[in-house]
Amino acid sequence: MDQTSQPVELLLSVSREVPRPLGAQIEDELRRAIRQGAVKAGARVPSTRDLARQLGLSRSVVVDAYAQLAAEGYLVLRQGARPRVSEAAGTRDAASAKPAGPAPVPRFDFRPRAPDVSSFPRTAWLRSVREGLTAITDADLGYGDPRGVEALRSVLAEYLGRVRGVAADPARIVVTCGYSQGQGIVCRALVAHGARRIAFENPSHPEQRRIATRAGLEVVPVPVDEDGLRIDDLARADVDAVVLTPAHQHPTGAVLAGDRRADLLGWLRASKALAIEDDYDAEYRYDRVAVGALQGLDQDRIVYAGSASKTLAPGLRLGWLVVPPRLLDTVTDEKDLADCGTARIDQHAFARFLARGELDRHLRRMRAQYRRRRDLLVAALEEALPEATVRGIAAGLHATVELPGTYDEQAILDEARRRRLDLTTMRDFWIEPGSGPPTLLLGYAQIPEPSIRASVRALVEAVRASPAQAANARARSRRESTPSLR
Ligand SMILES: Cc1ncc(COP(=O)(O)O)c(C=O)c1O
Repeated sequence: MDQTSQPVELLLSVSREVPRPLGAQIEDELRRAIRQGAVKAGARVPSTRDLARQLGLSRSVVVDAYAQLAAEGYLVLRQGARPRVSEAAGTRDAASAKPAGPAPVPRFDFRPRAPDVSSFPRTAWLRSVREGLTAITDADLGYGDPRGVEALRSVLAEYLGRVRGVAADPARIVVTCGYSQGQGIVCRALVAHGARRIAFENPSHPEQRRIATRAGLEVVPVPVDEDGLRIDDLARADVDAVVLTPAHQHPTGAVLAGDRRADLLGWLRASKALAIEDDYDAEYRYDRVAVGALQGLDQDRIVYAGSASKTLAPGLRLGWLVVPPRLLDTVTDEKDLADCGTARIDQHAFARFLARGELDRHLRRMRAQYRRRRDLLVAALEEALPEATVRGIAAGLHATVELPGTYDEQAILDEARRRRLDLTTMRDFWIEPGSGPPTLLLGYAQIPEPSIRASVRALVEAVRASPAQAANARARSRRESTPSLR
């Protein structure tokens, strides 16, 4: 028999008695054997079929474990060839062992960052680029107006008025590279106008707070509850401006209540302050009609800020501001200084895309899809994790899942990472870490409908295996097996 076709023996042991998944145990054991030199660089390891047989496991468990080790650079897997330890892996000791190659592909990605970009309307966008590029003049290929292409500003004004109730004069629209750039520009303009302190919802997006700090503003936290930002606390915060997400608070999912909207407008006028309204995903509203933008109620005190990142794709880097008259020149100047204007061919394409009603069409299709994913997610969570409280599902692309205090967010994150589940929890969003109960943020946009149940199952396994919970379960079983003294 050819020596290379002999089955290879490998001394590995896995146990069903420990809470760690079997695949992760295989990964741990093989990684350790390679690091310690027990299995040498270039050496053959058993085929997935042989190892599965040897350990009495299903082959898919071993296939997944090998794929992870290959992604980390420990194994070399080639179609039709025997799996081997990589030549580089054996020379690494435990301290220097870093994942080689790209980060492992997650099994499920729950991070509420992006929409389902695999549904990006490529054909319609391509047509828009072709049409835009064919029609533009040579002058359009110059720098042009830093506020952006006029055709886009006028079609955006129409869209925002119709869909979001924004009072948008095209002359006061500034096209930006996403919301993030828009917020940075407005913060710098505010500093130029003498602002020093800016309030942020607590919890809120940490990057947005960093953008404000970088512009020279002091960030002041203001709490959020189930009715959105607490305006009574805002009024006591002694700030010049506030950033808020009234249509769908990020990340809690609360909607700013009607009386709070009125109180906010009153406070803005009384204190001569300014609000930046981050309207990042208001188009996704499932159970009743979308809440209109605040900006329509006071266009002198509210900067409206939108983005194509949730409706189309973050990679487009397209956003827009509707700016109050008194800030317009400074904001335009800041935009000019930042990058001399957003890419103009993309702006022409987006103008065509909007004018042909492609965004409306895309959103109609996606809203129905996301709604189905959301419903499946909520039903699967109710069944598999009944102790959780699911909130923030009326709008947007993620749910918040609050767990009893016996769970530990960091332990869940670690366990999820080991199982290749990409997850975000609330801890990153609090201005002072650890301010609330353990809460997972589950984005459902990037998980296809047929995989939702499996993804929730995998998530719940990670939650249940996370150390704090495992310790609690052990304590419970000790309690149950200890005879009562009463
Ligand atoms: C709260 C919030 N606002 C705005 C955005 C959009 O940011 P950008 O347009 O820079 O991609 C996001 C994206 O994830 C977000 O989470």
